[in-house]
Amino acid sequence: MLNCAVPQSCVGSGAIRIRVRTFQVLPEPKTIMQVARPGSQKVPPAQTPRPGSSIVADDIHLTFGGLSVLRGVSFSAPGGEISAFIGPNGAGKTSLFNTISGFYQPSTGRIRLDGEDITRLPAHARAGKGVARTFQNIALFRGLSVLDNIKLGGHHLMRADTISALLSAPWARREELALREELERRVIDFLEIDHIRHRPIESLSYGLQKRVELARALAMRPRVLLLDEPVAGMNREETEDMARFILDLHDEWAITILLIEHDMGLVMDLSSHVVVLSFGEVIARGSPAEVRSNPEVIRAYLGD
Ligand SMILES: Nc1ncnc2c1ncn2[C@@H]1O[C@H](COP(=O)(O)OP(=O)(O)O)[C@@H](O)[C@H]1O
Ligand SMILES: [Mg+2]
Repeated sequence: MLNCAVPQSCVGSGAIRIRVRTFQVLPEPKTIMQVARPGSQKVPPAQTPRPGSSIVADDIHLTFGGLSVLRGVSFSAPGGEISAFIGPNGAGKTSLFNTISGFYQPSTGRIRLDGEDITRLPAHARAGKGVARTFQNIALFRGLSVLDNIKLGGHHLMRADTISALLSAPWARREELALREELERRVIDFLEIDHIRHRPIESLSYGLQKRVELARALAMRPRVLLLDEPVAGMNREETEDMARFILDLHDEWAITILLIEHDMGLVMDLSSHVVVLSFGEVIARGSPAEVRSNPEVIRAYLGD
C-alpha cells in the first residue's frame, strides 16, 4: 500500500489508496480540425485531448451460432465519467466492449456516441470518432519500440482524416504532423515512460507493457476509452500506478472511461457508476456501494 505524506492527497474508499499528483491546468481542448488551415494565420496551442463523449447502449443482442452472448444489454455511460463493468468470467463483458468498438456486430440494438448512432460503423470509423481501447491480453507489436507502438495509435487518427489531409496545403499537413508528435510527447510525459521510449516492447515488464498499450490508445486522442482489465496480472505497485493514471485521465483529460475490472476495491476507488453483467444480461446497475450490497450481484459471484 502506498504511503501518502499528506493524508488529503489520498483518495479512494476501497482496497487501494491512490496518490493524487498535482498538475498544471491544461488549456481549452482543441480538435485537430481546429488546427490552422490555409487562409488562417492562427497557430493553435499544443494539441490537447478531446473532452469525453457519452456512450449509450440500447437493448444489445449478440449471438455466435446458437450461443446468446449478450441479451438485451442497455446502459448509459455519461461523458467524462468512469463507468465500471463487472461480472463473473464469461458474462459477456469483453464481448460488450467488442460490440462498442465495432469488432462485433450486434444482431439487434443500438450504440450511440454523443447521441449519434454508430452501431453500423466499422471499427476504424469508430476509432476516428474517438473510441479507443486496450485489450484483456496485451496487443502490442513485438519487435517495435515503445515509441513506434505509440505512433501506431496516432497514425490511425491520420488515416481517419485522409481526405482533409489530401486537401490541405503541404505546410498544413506538416503542422498536423507536428501536432501529432506533440501529442505523442504529452502522452509519454503523462504516463512517465520517457526513459523507455526506445526500448523494444518485449524487453519491458508486464506492467510497463500495459502502460504502453494505454499510451497507444491515448495517442488516438480518444473521447471514450475502453479498458479491458487494465490491471489483470499486475503486482500491487503496478496496479497502484495504473489506478493513479486512470484517475488522472478522468481528472485532467476528462475522457469518458469504460472499465472492466474484477477487483471490487479498485472499482470502488475509480468508478462513479457500475454495470453488472451475468450470463449476457445486466443484473444490476448503480453506484459502487449500491451494487456491492445488491443480493443478486452477490449471488452471481458467490452462488446461492
Ligand atoms: N468470437 C466469439 N465466438 C464465439 N463465442 C464467443 C466469441 N467471443 C466471445 N464468445 C463467448 O461469449 C461468452 C462471453 O465471453 P466474454 O465476452 O469474453 O466474457 P467476459 O469478458 O465477461 O469473461 C463466452 O461464452 C465466450 O466463449
Ligand atoms: Mg473478458
